Amino acid sequence: MGLVTGKEILEVANRDGYAVGAFNINNLEILQGVVAGCIEKNSPVIIAVSEGAIKYAGFDYIVAMVKTAAELSPIPIALHLDHGRDKEIIYRCIKGGFTSVMIDASHLPLEENIKETKVVVEMAHAEGISVEGELGRLKGVEETVSVAEREATLTDPQQAERFVEETGVDFLAPAIGTSHGAFKFKGEAKLDLERLKEIKRRLGIPLVLHGASTVPQRILELALKYGADLKEAKGVPSEQLKKAIALGINKINTDTDLRLAFTGAVRKVLAENPGVFDPRKILGPARDMIAEVVKEKISLFGSSGKARSR
Ligand code: G3H
Ligand code: 13P
Ligand code: ZN
Repeated sequence: MGLVTGKEILEVANRDGYAVGAFNINNLEILQGVVAGCIEKNSPVIIAVSEGAIKYAGFDYIVAMVKTAAELSPIPIALHLDHGRDKEIIYRCIKGGFTSVMIDASHLPLEENIKETKVVVEMAHAEGISVEGELGRLKGVEETVSVAEREATLTDPQQAERFVEETGVDFLAPAIGTSHGAFKFKGEAKLDLERLKEIKRRLGIPLVLHGASTVPQRILELALKYGADLKEAKGVPSEQLKKAIALGINKINTDTDLRLAFTGAVRKVLAENPGVFDPRKILGPARDMIAEVVKEKISLFGSSGKARSR
């Protein structure tokens, strides 16, 4: 089938109470691994592409690869711009084959965030493309010093209601205590689930969790065994993700776990086979490892067998 919008996938997930993975891809092998895992689990998927990924792989290559994946697959696939900040890139995505975009103006004051987001929503909706907005800040452990400071970065439910009403976004990414990367928490990992519950109660629309990698122990051990320097790595505990899904998260952004899986597999091949120099023998196992991790994620998110839900 052809590409579908993020909204088509997420409205069903919202109605039926599960989450769909938004997996970041940067090259052919990651894309193929993600799609293979999703086909095996018969799950819809959102392929997330950052501005950095576009710069790395090239806009036309990305669109062509993901369109081809959708045409060859029996599952719904959306092509989504992740953390769009550059207006030119956002507009190019809207006009050039993406079926969903995120405008991330979360670093701006509320009024400006609303203004910038609204412009993108109008443009994207005119093309039948869905839009994700972000409100609140995803600050990492090193970026805040006190609990009060951290609290202040989290999304205010009342502001979220106003943001959605005035911008018309199709789904919203609130900040509830997660952050990007492999070092999310020092000490106990904690999401503000009460805040999430209140945001969902007020909005009702699909909600997105960024910074949702769990840093699985097995993957971390593989990386550490073959020389990675990741000793303090810590992700969101799977149990907390499950609770967040039960409270209304429908899109789960996952990049770090794929990066860890991919590079862990590459490290293993190179360490165990010093004579190997065929890229297919190095990247093939990494692609398989991505598929394995994606399958585990789908089981956790609850989207197994949902490819044909309408
Ligand atoms: O949220 C950010 C994603 O993990 C993409 O990261 O900008 O390094 O491609 P990137
Ligand atoms: P992780 O770094 O936790 O994988 O989060 C990815 C993300 O939010 C992409 O938008
Ligand atoms: Zn993100």
